[in-house]
Amino acid sequence: MCDLLRRLKEFGYDVRVVPTASALKFVGRPTWEALSGQSASSDIWEEVQDVPHVAIGQKADLVIIAPATADLMSKAATGRADDLLTSVLLTTRAPVIFAPAMHTEMWEHPATVANVETLRSRGAIVIEPSVGRLTGPDSGTGRLAEPASLASVCRAALEGGSGSADLAGRRVLVTAGGTREPLDPVRFLGNRSSGRQGWALAAAAAARGASVKLIAANVDLPEPAGSQVIRVETTSQMFDAVLAEAGEYDAVVMAAAVADFRSTSVANRKIKKDDSGNVPEPIELVRNPDILAALGEKWSQSPTPVVVGFAAETISDEQDREAVGEAKRAAKGANVIVVNEVGVELGFESALNSASILDGSGVVIHVPQTSKEELANAVWDAVIARLPRAERGTEFPAG
Ligand code: CTP
Repeated sequence: MCDLLRRLKEFGYDVRVVPTASALKFVGRPTWEALSGQSASSDIWEEVQDVPHVAIGQKADLVIIAPATADLMSKAATGRADDLLTSVLLTTRAPVIFAPAMHTEMWEHPATVANVETLRSRGAIVIEPSVGRLTGPDSGTGRLAEPASLASVCRAALEGGSGSADLAGRRVLVTAGGTREPLDPVRFLGNRSSGRQGWALAAAAAARGASVKLIAANVDLPEPAGSQVIRVETTSQMFDAVLAEAGEYDAVVMAAAVADFRSTSVANRKIKKDDSGNVPEPIELVRNPDILAALGEKWSQSPTPVVVGFAAETISDEQDREAVGEAKRAAKGANVIVVNEVGVELGFESALNSASILDGSGVVIHVPQTSKEELANAVWDAVIARLPRAERGTEFPAG
């Protein structure tokens, strides 16, 4: 959590650490104070002139409990306020995110399940813990999400997020990265997608309470907190993974850069140059299936899933680019398309993105150059506007 604190500070946020007495058995108060640059008291009876048990919660824009133990969630669910942290939870009206960490047995215990349900019903975000190595030699569900992923969820909640659990109870499917088509055992046809926009979409959806599945093609980033990740390599693998499940989701967002062509043949051995100086045989290409068009064809008449495509264009004129994007949306039967300009310095590998969001109504949402998290939140806003209203998630205040 020292790493999480560092990352949040590097994003430019003021962070106040409120450790529990148990937390101080793991990491001492001087460490928290040095890293945060603020007092890290865990006692209601310290600095009483500032009334910290009220002031800290009132001032916060976001509260994240990490790691959230079974005991802490039990106290939060019943409204106990016997230390500084639990008092903060009762006074804050900011979004509250719990990042659980505990052994599998504790996570699956009916008491914990009921407490998580209570917290979620009040609008809190309880991120699904990861599956992996636990404190002892054992492995299972209950591992704390990685600090980098928790930092992204916080950033998504703070940047352009609705501040509410408006995707609670929703299931969303996001694709990310770039598919690769093999030529031989060591070479492939691919593209420069980093997967960061898809990752930001997953983090933003988790920060708004959705249950997220992420189908990732060749992405080298730590798994986003609260998302279930399926790894694929080629377009046809992504096609199978998306089409197999799309119907069970409220929204499918195709942020992946999908290879349109594959080689008609894949060499079993590395393609070699010969001594005569000849170049190898030309590579013959064949079209890949269009995943977005297949989704559009199947689901465009149903309210869900809301199908969202991305159109990465190298056209610099905004109006021309939007016209090409809108034509692409209509041709593929997507409900919404996010059009952005790509180039050597734009889009793919940069942390920033700008875009226009179109849905065929003629209304265009312009998102100026901004973080991928903020663009992700604008995309979810557009999705939520199209979801059947009756089933929408709950609103904050949380706790
Ligand atoms: N897409 C897809 N399957 C493909 C190609 C693209 O699902 N075989 C999806 C992408 O994930 C994206 C959208 O379609 O959401 C548009 O992708 P883009 O590469 O911009 O469009 P293409 O259809 O490939 O058109 P072109 O490359 O000719 O501009």
